[in-house]
Formats: sequence, structure tokens, C-alpha cells
Amino acid sequence: MDDRFEELKREKGYRTRDMVVIHEGIPNLAEMLAKFDKIHTHSDDEVRYILAGSGFFGFVEPDGNQFLLEVTAGDYINVPANSEHWFEMRDCTRCKAVRYFIDTSGWTPHYTGRDRNIAESALA
Ligand code: LAC
Ligand code: NI
Repeated sequence: MDDRFEELKREKGYRTRDMVVIHEGIPNLAEMLAKFDKIHTHSDDEVRYILAGSGFFGFVEPDGNQFLLEVTAGDYINVPANSEHWFEMRDCTRCKAVRYFIDTSGWTPHYTGRDRNIAESALA
């Protein structure tokens, strides 16, 4: 994974990375997830490499259509800057991911106030 990071640093200018681990044993897990599961944007790309477990990224298309994407270990996802998205675990219990940053401040979530319109049961 380190050589991938070196590549990303060269290719995309990412400078830092951190690890996010979500599992049932984490104290105040609900508060952490509550930050992620509201539709938001970032001024930087949000790039993640899923190391273990799985979770769901939701996206809002330009026409307003919303869809969910399940991400699992080995997946590499890039949420382009300024695109509306969210993250939820649904029935997944753990997810470990490396997040790559260009500039950590670029990752501040800007909530757009748009409601998610995917039924709890519906999966893309
Ligand atoms: C984040 C993901 C959850 O902003 O969108 O960390
Ligand atoms: Ni985000």
C-alpha cells in the first residue's frame, strides 16, 4: 500500500493519509457515523482505500438521482471535490479504510441540507 501512496503523492499531490476504523466496539460510534451519514461535499477529493470490512457510499447525481455503492476490502474510491455524497454502514459492522488527503482542511464536510431519498431497504 505504501508504493500506492507514493504513486498517489506523485500523481495527485496527496500529502497525508490517515486510517479510519469503524467497528461496533468503538466508543461513541453513533456520533462518528452521524457526521458521515448526512449529505455533504468537500473542497478536496475524498479518496479512500478500503482495507477491511465494508460500508456504503451514497452519491447524488447532477439530476438529483441518488444511489448507493457498497465498498469492500480492496476497493479504491475517489469522491470528486464538491460532489454530494454520504457514508453509512447499514448492516455492515466494520470498515477499515485509509483516507488520502491533499490538504486535511479540504476534508471539512460542508452539509448541503439535502435529504437522502433511498429507502433503508433499497440497495443499488
Ligand atoms: C467522509 C466520508 C464519510 O467525509 O464521506 O469522511
Ligand atoms: Ni465525505
